[in-house]
Amino acid sequence: MLRRFTSGRKLYSQCRYTSNDIKACIVGSGPAGFYTAKQLFKHPQLSDKNVHITMLERLPTPYGLVRYGVAPDHPEVKNVIHDFEKLIQSNQDKFTFVGNVEFGKDVLWKDLHNHFDVIVLSYGVDSDAKLGIPGEDLIGVESAREFVNWYNGFPELAQETPSWFEKANAKYTELFNAKNICIIGQGNVALDVARILSKDLENLKQFDVPDHVLTLLAQLPSLKNIFVVGRRGPVQSACTTKELREMKNLLPRSKFYVNPKDLNLSPLEQEELEKIGRAQKRLLEIMRVCDTPDESLINVQLLFYLSPVEFIASSSDPTRLGAIRFEKTKLEKNGNNVQAKGTGEFETIPCELAFRSIGYKSENKDPDIPFDTRRGIIKNENGRVVGLPDTFVAGWIKRGPSGVIATSIHDAEETVNELVKDVKPSNKGGVQALLKQIKQPVVHYEHYKKIDVHEIEKGKPVGKLREKVLRVAEMLEIAHKL
Ligand SMILES: Cc1cc2nc3c(=O)[nH]c(=O)nc-3n(C[C@H](O)[C@H](O)[C@H](O)COP(=O)(O)OP(=O)(O)OC[C@H]3O[C@@H](n4cnc5c(N)ncnc54)[C@H](O)[C@@H]3O)c2cc1C
Ligand SMILES: NC(=O)c1ccc[n+]([C@@H]2O[C@H](COP(=O)([O-])OP(=O)(O)OC[C@H]3O[C@@H](n4cnc5c(N)ncnc54)[C@H](OP(=O)(O)O)[C@@H]3O)[C@@H](O)[C@H]2O)c1
Repeated sequence: MLRRFTSGRKLYSQCRYTSNDIKACIVGSGPAGFYTAKQLFKHPQLSDKNVHITMLERLPTPYGLVRYGVAPDHPEVKNVIHDFEKLIQSNQDKFTFVGNVEFGKDVLWKDLHNHFDVIVLSYGVDSDAKLGIPGEDLIGVESAREFVNWYNGFPELAQETPSWFEKANAKYTELFNAKNICIIGQGNVALDVARILSKDLENLKQFDVPDHVLTLLAQLPSLKNIFVVGRRGPVQSACTTKELREMKNLLPRSKFYVNPKDLNLSPLEQEELEKIGRAQKRLLEIMRVCDTPDESLINVQLLFYLSPVEFIASSSDPTRLGAIRFEKTKLEKNGNNVQAKGTGEFETIPCELAFRSIGYKSENKDPDIPFDTRRGIIKNENGRVVGLPDTFVAGWIKRGPSGVIATSIHDAEETVNELVKDVKPSNKGGVQALLKQIKQPVVHYEHYKKIDVHEIEKGKPVGKLREKVLRVAEMLEIAHKL
């Protein structure tokens, strides 16, 4: 069992492991990391052991995409953080959060394997999929992931001036002169991006959107259209009902619109709709009642059967986006899948800003880890990393960038069921040995709570849920202030 001691105001951990302690290290503190911890603490096959968990996180703040991905106007989704906090608080002597330590840079797999009996990698995703079509490097062809980071106050990691978000501000200031914005992809991230761009700002400002973002979002002077473009049809839209239904509430600034002509389903689509079931039928019902545009507002429209083939430079500036060329598609059955097949007909949509929202992508962090570059996942079987001893995976780095927070629950169960088959205690040094190796200041949970309180207090006078700290250096200062 691990005991924690405080010396003056400086908190440190001192190990008094017993020979029956399993020292587990979880890398990444998103939903997958926390649900894995929960499973480890309650698994019946480990009930005769003491499990001690060290959770490594590259940021000083835990919770991964719950903090930096989930849209700010969905605070009810972020409430899952309360469950994670309960888990930490009710296992204080068995759980150590170690923030500001980057796996792959500050520690490698070999180090963790030296210190811990078992390792679970759940470090998620930090890159995005590319379309690989001409013109993708033009100014104005942007990543939805970066935009999400920007409106969610993802911090500057290095001590750079200007910071990444100040550079983004400068870039978006110019790009927000756009008349038309295209978002490529029709998943929930695409809808988040469309909603944040078009939503009533009075509503948005009560959440935790950084001030500099609110200022810029108020300045979209020429914006007329946001097109959310799918390469397949309405039956294959990747968004979910709750998120689509929310698009009906963009008034008074914007209006969500689907052209009824696009909802005349072919026999193949009708057949698919019957097969796929109720959720998809509800999506179609929502689309059908959004059948009237309002020319006086920002028009947020779903477009279908268009596959991007080229980003075309503006005629006035060859470095900037001016339009996107799409190939029209028709749907074809391929085994169990319905694929978009090019028709040889093309359509060009003028637009000065495009967000690529076709999925996130994980990257390998350590050459010792077997990585499937095509799928962007660590090679594993039911969560057990192929060919590496005592090493497991959970979350998006295990199965790829899809699924909601709750998907991580079953996923963690599977991983831990595999892990318990052969995990055993050893005399490795655990968290104490790890901390000796780390040179920079680390952030424990108690330190993080200071950042949390600071942010909430800073938001109060302006009626916001919180004002996020935007630089890691400042987070560390707050965390370690005496
Ligand atoms: C924009 C967006 C919005 C979403 N909104 C919702 C929603 O509203 N509702 C919902 O249910 N689901 C939502 N999801 C899905 C949900 O966020 C994911 O299913 C879930 O977060 C995946 O969990 P994870 O733990 O695998 O990854 P993550 O949440 O990404 O957690 C990974 C953690 O690992 C850390 N990390 C990364 N690299 C390292 C490293 N080298 N060393 C140490 N730590 C590292 C990261 O900082 C992060 O804390 C959304 C996803 C996105 C992208
Ligand atoms: N509120 C929420 O619950 C919430 C919010 C955000 C994210 N999430 C979850 O997070 C996960 C990731 O979301 P996401 O939106 O990033 O991914 P996603 O759901 O996988 O959607 C990706 C979209 O990109 C399209 N696409 C992929 N490759 C393409 C290409 N080459 N050309 C054109 N279009 C392409 C896909 O179309 P095809 O289907 O044709 O491939 C799909 O419409 C999802 O599980 C999502 O539900 C949930």
